[in-house]
Amino acid sequence: MDAAPYLAALRDARHVVVLTGAGVSAESGVPTFRDRQTGLWATFDPMQLATPSAYERDPSLVWGWYEWRRAAVQSAQPNAAHRAITAMAAAVPRLTLITQNVDDLHERAGSASVLHLHGELGRPYCAVCRRAYALPPDPPRVVPDGERIEPPRCESCGGRIRPGVVWFGEALPQAQWRRAVDAASRCDAFFCVGTSSLVQPAASLTDVAIRAGAITIQVNLSPTDMDARVAHSLRGAAGSVLPGLVSEVWGGGNRGGQHRAR
Ligand code: OAD
Repeated sequence: MDAAPYLAALRDARHVVVLTGAGVSAESGVPTFRDRQTGLWATFDPMQLATPSAYERDPSLVWGWYEWRRAAVQSAQPNAAHRAITAMAAAVPRLTLITQNVDDLHERAGSASVLHLHGELGRPYCAVCRRAYALPPDPPRVVPDGERIEPPRCESCGGRIRPGVVWFGEALPQAQWRRAVDAASRCDAFFCVGTSSLVQPAASLTDVAIRAGAITIQVNLSPTDMDARVAHSLRGAAGSVLPGLVSEVWGGGNRGGQHRAR
């Protein structure tokens, strides 16, 4: 398909879905998971840190690691990709933003009602009674490479507080997942941005959109298995590609984002 009909189709879209992954926050300095040199899973073993049994075995190791990540996210700022998605939402009749990210950079860029499929660093809860835990307002105090930190205790039942993220082997939050599937199956245009599309069930949303007949657009720095399935693969950094696309399709709604891009 040549560029013009694809851009025109985007301009006519009534409902756009954007699925984001770690790559969308990479230009904010938040590491991805699977990039060979810099990804978190290149340095850390997910089986020691991101499973229910890892937490049972060594809660202070796991809590300390997530506090280290929470501190890093708190000192990061949204980038031009986050802002371009906010601008896109302002330009189209309806936009559903679905993220696998546990940071709050979409919200801090002005996006509302973000569906967090893998939970949020800022929403820990009791591992026993599941009551939400209110984090202290000050940023977490952590050393540069992280350290063991004993998790706080639940005010209600005394159980240990756990990070508010979805670990390997756990179910996604069901209400958010249902809304994500519903949106993917009814949208006109679907973007998957900065995700390796290797983690299920999140990656299957792109296939739901393909089957539903939506225009599908991938934005990624590197090739992925999705290249062969989506209609359009835009190769490049999300913080450059998305502001350019939003400006081209919806007429410069993201001028601020482009100027602030690093
Ligand atoms: P990955 O680390 O698997 O993939 C990140 C993707 O972003 C890669 O395909 C990179 O090529 C791409 N990328 C990096 N920088 C980019 C940039 N500036 N612009 C565009 N693309 C860029 O991260 P996810 O796909 O998000 O789950 O991983 C999915 C899940 O796996 C995560 O939510 C996490 C992880 O294990 C849990 O923790 C449950």
